[in-house]
Amino acid sequence: MRQLYGLIGNPVNGSKSPWVHECLFEHANLDANYLCFNVAKEALSAAVNGLRAIGVQGFNVTIPYKESVIELLDAVDQSASAMGAVNTVAIRNGKMIGYNTDGLGLLKVLERHMGSLENKSVLVLGAGGAAKGICGALLQAKLKRLQIRNRNEERAKDLVKLLHERSQFSIGVQTEPLENETFDLIINTTSVGMTPHEDETPLLLEGLDEQTVICDIVYKPHETLLIKNAKANNMKVIYGIEMLIEQALLAEQIWNDIPQSVVDATRSDLMSKVNQL
Ligand code: ATR
Repeated sequence: MRQLYGLIGNPVNGSKSPWVHECLFEHANLDANYLCFNVAKEALSAAVNGLRAIGVQGFNVTIPYKESVIELLDAVDQSASAMGAVNTVAIRNGKMIGYNTDGLGLLKVLERHMGSLENKSVLVLGAGGAAKGICGALLQAKLKRLQIRNRNEERAKDLVKLLHERSQFSIGVQTEPLENETFDLIINTTSVGMTPHEDETPLLLEGLDEQTVICDIVYKPHETLLIKNAKANNMKVIYGIEMLIEQALLAEQIWNDIPQSVVDATRSDLMSKVNQL
């Protein structure tokens, strides 16, 4: 029987997740569909239990339910419990198990572009749900230093406190002007620059070292103002679509036993099409 997978969130219109998952289904020769469901807050519990009742094998969770979905699940994997955010749910024998593939997905992308992150200095812009998952994964990366900068400084401090207990390296809140600092990598996890606010950027790049790699997890538009400015400054850039693809491929590997060769072929196929998005 045809399998069904999906995404719950609000809003989910314009999501590129079906594009990624359906491409994998094709490469894996799976008879499956992936649908997006816009779910109102008060309907979250009914929607999640409904997906289980109709025999859905797995689903993704996006803004704003990555944290609130947890109490509806039967179990939470360590990848999600560590930072309290779930983006992937597998349903096995009627039990719903939560995972997080966001952070690990981005880590894989970063390592593909930069090699090991060991001993690197990283600045994360933002301290919301996305920053949480990403910083949680960065804890495994043996960095030299992680700095977090956020419009709301208190929120940045709270995140640093959460990370501090489990880190081996220096973690702090960034309040200094960036000209006095050197970072190997800057990751934007805020929503600044996202459609329809394409003319906004979370950071001015003046005074930054040309060697700094700029990564933006925003993928709508494909080329954000931050990425455009970084390219104009001859900096290496990493596009948000790569993280979207990687977290989805990791979710697929949780749901089904997908051979690595199929995952790699899907990634290449998708990457060859990103310019048409
Ligand atoms: P997500 O799950 O996508 O991370 P979130 O938890 O609402 O969503 O977090 C959004 C992040 O983008 C926060 O770091 C937020 O900063 P504040 O904590 O100060 O609100 C940041 N953000 C959103 N709009 C912003 C703006 N216009 N300027 C600066 N930061 C912004």
